[in-house]
Amino acid sequence: MNTLEPSDACAGVRLPGALAPRSAATQRREEQIRGVSIGKYEKRAARYDRTCSRTWTIRERAVEALGLRPGDHVLDVGCGTGLSLALLVQAVGPTGRVSGFDQSPAMLAQARERLAQAGWPNVQLWLDIAQEFRLPDPVDALLFHYTHDILRSPSALEQLLSLARPGARVAIAGIKYFPGLLGVLNPWVYLKNLGYNGAPAGLRTPWDRISARLTDWQLAETQWGMGYIATGRVPAPAHRARVDTSTGT
Ligand SMILES: C[S@@+](CC[C@H](N)C(=O)[O-])C[C@H]1O[C@@H](n2cnc3c(N)ncnc32)[C@H](O)[C@@H]1O
Repeated sequence: MNTLEPSDACAGVRLPGALAPRSAATQRREEQIRGVSIGKYEKRAARYDRTCSRTWTIRERAVEALGLRPGDHVLDVGCGTGLSLALLVQAVGPTGRVSGFDQSPAMLAQARERLAQAGWPNVQLWLDIAQEFRLPDPVDALLFHYTHDILRSPSALEQLLSLARPGARVAIAGIKYFPGLLGVLNPWVYLKNLGYNGAPAGLRTPWDRISARLTDWQLAETQWGMGYIATGRVPAPAHRARVDTSTGT
């Protein structure tokens, strides 16, 4: 059950589908992680954009790696304050669509403000959680830009990849542990990541739960090995119809 209220744009569009069953313990753990994350972003949201200037070129590279074409529908997973929206809107053009969601009311409020100011008619934003987010029609591409908690949640990945058409392109950028001798700096990487995430572990190969579900996997290190940009494609079996028009809310 979704514990967060849908956005205005969402009303009448969110469609419940059959989620894979999760054990009560898993669900409790995920709720706890989400709660920690929401609390962190409550405090962080106001100055979030200022902390992102150094990784701007990584954002540009990740969006470029999606290979978007005019008319595409792209999903900005955990869109935060909406910093990627302008790049995505530009890439899909006026005939394309950009959908985005985030569970943090503080972060999404800024994304909505950005949308209101830009007036993009083809962008829709939702206050929602990755584990339960749904769309009425499939997406051609998904962007995971610094969304570590979501990448570590198997149920979130299952749900999000089910929203993609077969062959949809996925681009992921994020933080990871340094390899080799620079590994002495990894306690600092851990603390840096801790400030942003509810589940800060899994920094050696943060992508391993999504890479196992994608084809055409490619990965390049960034920032001397403290970051990565990866791409893949959603295989056909991951595409499952989630749309149940009889129970739309
Ligand atoms: C580091 S921020 C990245 C935001 C944005 N993608 C960007 O590149 O600026 C991570 C975002 O993921 C969101 N998030 C974390 N777990 C989530 C979940 N389970 N469902 C939805 N959003 C989530 C957080 O609220 C936060 O806004």
